[in-house]
Amino acid sequence: MARKPLIAGNWKMNMLSADGTALAKGVATEVKKLGKPECEFLVCPPFTLLSQVKKALRGAKVALGAQDVHFNLKGAHTGDISPLMLKDLGCTYVIVGHSERRADHKESNELVCKKAQAAIENGLKAVICIGETLEERDAGKTIDVCTKQILGSVPENATAANTVIAYEPVWAIGTGKTPTAADVEDVHAAIRKVVAKKLGKGNANKMRILYGGSVKPGNAKELLALPDVDGALIGGASLKVEDFMGIASKACVK
Ligand code: 13P
Repeated sequence: MARKPLIAGNWKMNMLSADGTALAKGVATEVKKLGKPECEFLVCPPFTLLSQVKKALRGAKVALGAQDVHFNLKGAHTGDISPLMLKDLGCTYVIVGHSERRADHKESNELVCKKAQAAIENGLKAVICIGETLEERDAGKTIDVCTKQILGSVPENATAANTVIAYEPVWAIGTGKTPTAADVEDVHAAIRKVVAKKLGKGNANKMRILYGGSVKPGNAKELLALPDVDGALIGGASLKVEDFMGIASKACVK
């Protein structure tokens, strides 16, 4: 089953206009040089830069995504951004349920599910994040936790075409630590089985499951070569063109 790897950058709450535009232009230039890249590219800047980054990416095969979305289309939701607003800015993807939002904003599986559902209904692709904390891992609950998160956060309207799952162990984010390749593969394979139960085998075989958490050019080859790893969701290393592209250069079609 050919799944085209997705190399996605989550810029988080980083970059002002000048640096963000330069970063996007740098990525665009490098991706253009690849001609027909073997992977898909996505960058998810903060809301404030979506419009500028869209312009900076012009002509390059790099999709634009946001880092969060409200589940309503409009109305009295001060400070929130709707799926229609994201589409209006040229976004085709949105990240939902990142562990930083689950922790900082107390986002539940139920809320993440509503966001993903609304995003999909409105023509956006959802990157749904899951992953265990260190305590949960130490207690041997990794697969349990991920299973519950998938069952609770992935909406009924999810398909391989409109949804990507990102497995990001919370303790690996921004720490320089990663699980062993064998552990990553075990969790990804388990995730695919849960997706098969929930959405059917066809969707499970085609759905991309990204790994995220301290992905760097130095560890990307091993991680991206794993049979059930279909790309990466990259934080820190997505803020430098060389690192982001260095990771992408390790991706291969499966
Ligand atoms: P780092 O790559 O900085 O560990 O962040 C991963 C992440 O949270 C991407 O969403």
